Amino acid sequence: MKFQKICVIGLGYIGLPTASTFAAHGIKVLGVDVSQQIIDTLNQGEIHIQEPGLHEEVKKAAESGNFYAATQPAEADAFIIAVPTPFRHDELGEHNGVTYKLADMSAVISAAESIVPFLRRGNLVILESTSPPRTTADLIAPILARSGLLAGRDFHLAYSPERVLPGQIMRELIENARVIGGITPESAQAGRDLYATFVKGQIIQTDSTTAEMVKLMENTYRDVNIAIANEFSRLADKFGVDVWDAISIANLHPRVKILTPGPGVGGHCISVDPWFLVESAPDLTPLIYHARQVNDAQPHFVVETVQRALGTLNGKKIAALGLAYKPDVDDLRESPATEVVRLLQAEGAVVKAWEPFKPNANLAGIHMSPTLDDALQDAEALLLLVNHAEFKQLNPAAVAAKTKARIVVDAVNGWNDETWKKAGFDVHVLGIGKQHH
Ligand SMILES: NC(=O)c1ccc[n+]([C@@H]2O[C@H](COP(=O)([O-])OP(=O)(O)OC[C@H]3O[C@@H](n4cnc5c(N)ncnc54)[C@H](O)[C@@H]3O)[C@@H](O)[C@H]2O)c1
Repeated sequence: MKFQKICVIGLGYIGLPTASTFAAHGIKVLGVDVSQQIIDTLNQGEIHIQEPGLHEEVKKAAESGNFYAATQPAEADAFIIAVPTPFRHDELGEHNGVTYKLADMSAVISAAESIVPFLRRGNLVILESTSPPRTTADLIAPILARSGLLAGRDFHLAYSPERVLPGQIMRELIENARVIGGITPESAQAGRDLYATFVKGQIIQTDSTTAEMVKLMENTYRDVNIAIANEFSRLADKFGVDVWDAISIANLHPRVKILTPGPGVGGHCISVDPWFLVESAPDLTPLIYHARQVNDAQPHFVVETVQRALGTLNGKKIAALGLAYKPDVDDLRESPATEVVRLLQAEGAVVKAWEPFKPNANLAGIHMSPTLDDALQDAEALLLLVNHAEFKQLNPAAVAAKTKARIVVDAVNGWNDETWKKAGFDVHVLGIGKQHH
């Protein structure tokens, strides 16, 4: 199948890199977003999100005349849906006494509905948004059928998940292996024809539900494995073991690869996507459900560790270093570090947070320090919550000169405890049961 014009719906971290990369490869792209502000920004050749290499690509695409943005779709050869699929905050699911989070599919539904008036025989529609199993067949196909055309017979329909890593999106979009699940084999083939425009990685064709499962399995695998690392950190604490040492020794086993413990799991993928499987089959997902519970509870373990280090939390001044959900990104969504800060405050601690990637973040109830020095001043303890490179490079002696705090709690094993001890700090690392030694 040949594609001259495509329409990409949802111009965020996934949609915009995808749209601009297609445009850079000679395809006319109409980018669609519900936000007029985003549309205006893009049509001026500017961008609204941070991603290395993206601005240049969008500028090039706009200048070549191959890319323009609008709030409504138009007729095209192919439509790609890349809108958000967060979980719902207004309602929980419940089954046999177990409650779980529900996927918010409203953006996917309205994006599919917006295509209906423009859908033509022979078109290709691709869903890229991470979605519960059977979404393409059971949710998208019936909506598109309102056009009078049938998926798999009159037009092609496929699911193709995104696996890119923020910070590396422009490269990974091209180099990563890509799975394309068609509602029919012909739909998968049409999807391959489209992405082959720029994808250099392997392209695997399968059915749409397999492709949906693959994406959810990937992120659930990560979540469950982080959960066991976190559970090991609690066990190590109980038994007087250093979990970090224990993991590195265990990982010498040729078939063992234990992941890294920490304050929990955040971001908008790994902490969200496993719920899509639980919601779809609560009876079949006890392990996935409990892994989510373990990771969501890990901030409490951090707070316990801080409490033990300080004796009490009430009235204690704490400098929290890092709020992002993982090192060296500015993304604070679903971050366990923010949960730790909130829990500490609920116990009466007075917390100042310093996030070098987003010093002015506006988070309800969290006091952001404008500088590291501001956070350090007056602090009675330092709490390392994210392993940002900037924090790893801190000189403990220089820090000691800026704060009266002499207690450090390291929730990510980011600091060399010997150098901090030498600088006069009492060091407590998550998952080291030193009170038992
Ligand atoms: N960001 C990632 O690293 C990543 C990786 C893999 C998968 N995903 C998945 O990709 C999907 C998109 O994620 P994202 O990070 O790009 O989201 P995002 O929030 O960055 O961008 C989504 C965009 O869609 C727009 N939008 C919402 N409803 C719309 C509608 N009905 N019509 C048109 N536009 C609409 C929003 O205004 C926003 O600009 C999600 O399902 C996510 O889980 C994301």
